[in-house]
Amino acid sequence: MQHQPPFNFSAGPALLPKEVMDQAQAEFQDWQGTGLSVMDFSHRGKDFVSIAEKSEADLRQLLEIPEHYKVLFTTGGATFQFATIPMNLLQSQAVYVNTGIWSSKSVKEARKYGTVHEINALDKQDELTAVVPHAQWEIPDSYDYLHYTPNETISGVEYDELPESAKGKLVADMSSNILSRPINIEDHALIYAGAQKNIGPAGITLVIVREDILQRELASYVPSMMQYKVLADNQSMYNTPPTYAWYLSGLVFDWLLKQGGVAEMERRAHQRSEHLYQFIDQHAFYHNPVHPSFRSRMNIPFILANESLNDTFLKEAEQAGLVYLKGHRSVGGMRASLYNAMPIEGVYALTSFMERFAKDYA
Ligand SMILES: Cc1ncc(COP(=O)(O)O)c(C=O)c1O
Repeated sequence: MQHQPPFNFSAGPALLPKEVMDQAQAEFQDWQGTGLSVMDFSHRGKDFVSIAEKSEADLRQLLEIPEHYKVLFTTGGATFQFATIPMNLLQSQAVYVNTGIWSSKSVKEARKYGTVHEINALDKQDELTAVVPHAQWEIPDSYDYLHYTPNETISGVEYDELPESAKGKLVADMSSNILSRPINIEDHALIYAGAQKNIGPAGITLVIVREDILQRELASYVPSMMQYKVLADNQSMYNTPPTYAWYLSGLVFDWLLKQGGVAEMERRAHQRSEHLYQFIDQHAFYHNPVHPSFRSRMNIPFILANESLNDTFLKEAEQAGLVYLKGHRSVGGMRASLYNAMPIEGVYALTSFMERFAKDYA
């Protein structure tokens, strides 16, 4: 399929694959001959249950999730998990690795529920943002879990090297890089992600949790909707789940399998991001503020050498069909988010535009 502009570089909610949108549109008012929309189904009826079961089976296949892990589809976004995780897992103390804005938020929330040992792992190397190597992290001997954010969506920092000693105790906020490469689930006690970047539309949150965690005794105040055991015992239907968002996520999982799974997503993520980074590195007009070893494959911030051109850049980019490129207010400049659904044509269109813009305004 040859993709055409507009190309959406939003950090989230982000674009969904074209094929998924086409399928959703085709079955919007008549799902598989029922004459009904998925939106109209009871979540407990056989039609929606079959959608839910297939989505879980496909996700398990994509990420090779072992049997002794539960897959939960819940609500409240990753931010809700910032509180739910300590409520379920924090008993004596938790370790939080701080590498940017999202991990800072998770630390702040966890502190409300218990003792947090924070590792400030943000560093600068040659004026570029970097992550302190884990050999230098001061990790206490005993802790319940080690929370990390493998992809900091705002600053565009990604890393995957973690201490051997923490394997099995890792808790990961994979909101912005889940399904973009294979992961070793068994290194983790829990993985979570808001859907609206690499999974589906906003409104649904994925949690993958090892079964033994569900046996922990919880404080009596923990709301039922925040108890992983309650969600698991009720197949994520303790209350009415966001059925349509769940269905769309299922279509994305099906699409991912047809594309070749997460290994293929990893190849594409590398291809997309390398193309843009190489372009930026070859043009003094643009600059990426992250050390090459920690550059995100998903979110690529770039600063214009002449920042007074920011508004003009955004305006002309939009005219060229390249939308949502404005950087996060805390970083400034631009940010191109290149999630799984971004076709390579979108990245080529972006670098062609950037080349032309640099010539026009040099
Ligand atoms: C890494 C990361 N964690 C957490 C969040 C917050 O997610 P939500 O808006 O789903 O609560 C985001 C972004 O939206 C994110 O990129």
